[in-house]
Amino acid sequence: MTEERPAYPSLENSSVRRWTPQTFGRDSTATESADDDSFNHEWPACWEAATSLLKWRKPHDRIVDEENAPFYRWFVGGRLNAAENCIDRHLEKRKNQVALRWEGKRGERRTYTYYDLYREVSAVEAALRELGVEADDVVTIYLPKLPELPIAMLACARIGAVHNVVFAGFAPDALVKRMQHVDSSALVTCDGSIREETAIDQKRKADTALASLEESLPTIVVDRLGASHGTHLGANQYDYDDLVETHAGADVTPVSRKSTDPLFHIHTSGTTGDQQRMTHATGGYLAGVAWTARTVFDLSLGTTIWCTADIGWITGHSYAVYGPLLSGATAVLVEGSLRYPDRHRPWKLIERNGVEIFYTTPGVIRTFMKWGESFPSSYDLSSLRLLGTVGEPIGPDTWEWYYTHVGEERYPIVDTWWQTETGCVLISVRPGIDESKPDSVGPPLPGIEIQVVDEDGRELPPGEPGYLTIDRPWPSMLAPLEGDRYWVLAEYWQAFSDPRADSWRYFTGDRAVVDDDGYVTILGRDDDVISIGNRRLGTAELEAAITTVDGVTEAAVVAKSTGGETTLCVFATLEQEQRDQNAVGDAIADAVAKHVGEFARPTSVVFTPELPETYSGKTMYRLLERVINDRSLTNSDALRNPEILGELATIWNRE
Ligand code: WTA
Repeated sequence: MTEERPAYPSLENSSVRRWTPQTFGRDSTATESADDDSFNHEWPACWEAATSLLKWRKPHDRIVDEENAPFYRWFVGGRLNAAENCIDRHLEKRKNQVALRWEGKRGERRTYTYYDLYREVSAVEAALRELGVEADDVVTIYLPKLPELPIAMLACARIGAVHNVVFAGFAPDALVKRMQHVDSSALVTCDGSIREETAIDQKRKADTALASLEESLPTIVVDRLGASHGTHLGANQYDYDDLVETHAGADVTPVSRKSTDPLFHIHTSGTTGDQQRMTHATGGYLAGVAWTARTVFDLSLGTTIWCTADIGWITGHSYAVYGPLLSGATAVLVEGSLRYPDRHRPWKLIERNGVEIFYTTPGVIRTFMKWGESFPSSYDLSSLRLLGTVGEPIGPDTWEWYYTHVGEERYPIVDTWWQTETGCVLISVRPGIDESKPDSVGPPLPGIEIQVVDEDGRELPPGEPGYLTIDRPWPSMLAPLEGDRYWVLAEYWQAFSDPRADSWRYFTGDRAVVDDDGYVTILGRDDDVISIGNRRLGTAELEAAITTVDGVTEAAVVAKSTGGETTLCVFATLEQEQRDQNAVGDAIADAVAKHVGEFARPTSVVFTPELPETYSGKTMYRLLERVINDRSLTNSDALRNPEILGELATIWNRE
């Protein structure tokens, strides 16, 4: 799989700042007494500790069921409802506590207490029922970061319907695929959204998608833009506010769901390259998220957390919605860009909302670095006590900047490693318990077993880079659905020929190295997936969009990091080289924006006579990454057409 060994940071020699955990007073009590060895030793019984953070209608009979291995089913026999756990359970003691604080792009602010949430979620639930939505039906939610997004998710959960949130930036084509994939029977969207000064017609994108479906789907339309944007509701389309008004005061008992029943679908890019649907089951997912909300983010009653991720990605599901609400905390939701109206926005938001826990991506932090420390230092950030990062390697420089200028050299940083498939964080330091090292995500959490292995699946010693695997199932692992076309996912388990024939192993698709203390450093992806912040894009989906352009025969997409920002770069081959390359380049960028979404528009397009390929015809992305990131170009034995390398470097440098 690898054509060469990547450079990796040496943990021993770097100027590692070991952060002392004593400075962090934990609010939650989840792990203080956890003795990691005995926790690990008692697997799977150790996970009872996570179930005790939830309210069950019926306790489970078995912790884990191996019948459908490699998929394990968790807390079998147990019954619960996700929305009841996020809302109803808080009503008796803290109904007037703030559950959500929302800040809109135009400076609007809205606050919802747990009781407000209960009322609005119940009304939307009643409306969905009236529109024919029942348990196990799938509802697609295509909304920007508005309070109505988590409200719609929770309304689905009350009914036992399965939500399928699609990132609002996706184009109609991408939305259609993600709706058809899950046989969606209803849609929740909005009239439009605002990007900086421009109104984006979300409804038109949704209508285009709806028109290409065979059946007419009931559609609920949230009014985001108000009277300024006249939206026409067609047949089978309903105004959100009207529905909420009609169903005000509805009070329907949340449906009791099996622990193994699906809670949501989410699409991501996986080992097969193209976008894939993942499913998370109710009990295991919620247990994993509630557990990590405590152990990693120290969330407890009333804690204020701002997770900057869009809710269309797993990070938003787990730590902007479910984690905070399960913990009785306050979630800050922020619509729009952190740079608009100006660079003061993020710091004002932290100060104004008394944010205690701030969770973002290295890309965002690098943007902050570029703007300079004068921005954070002009605000009172003393409400903060814990910082988090996720999505790509942060690197020691960015870590230090975050620690010094946002964390005031006092607050711990949790660099959390996880994936859509894992549902919750699996590798991270625990604040107040473990030491941090700036170039490492930390040790696996208690109960999680990992290895770094070579191509043959053999465990590598500390210091040797290889492939990261998870070697024991965990509660919030991706779930199987009965009768589903889940064979695709079996690939996850077939990626290696495992010498230990009867052992269980999940291949993450990431390269990593472990140090002598068992701390993991993530080196990046090893498959045809580009991870940018919280957006995981399959090169196959992007390349399929590019080859729709007339005259383009082949394409490869790679990520480029410049000045801390990651952008997409396309290498393409043409039928006839003499074609007007500028025009084709523009058409390629437009095709990606049209089929995938404006957010994925590539910033550069390079034409080449051939793409570097292995003998088996696989594009060597790692070489292309080296070309564009100006690293040294080393030849590789696996390359079928080595002569292309020099040519590529010349073409790139000319650009
Ligand atoms: C990458 C997002 C380095 C990794 C939660 C993984 C990371 C992919 C980290 C999952 C981290 C996630 N350091 N890389 N702390 N966290 N990644 O499914 O390549 O959108 O496989 O889930 O992001 O992306 P996904």
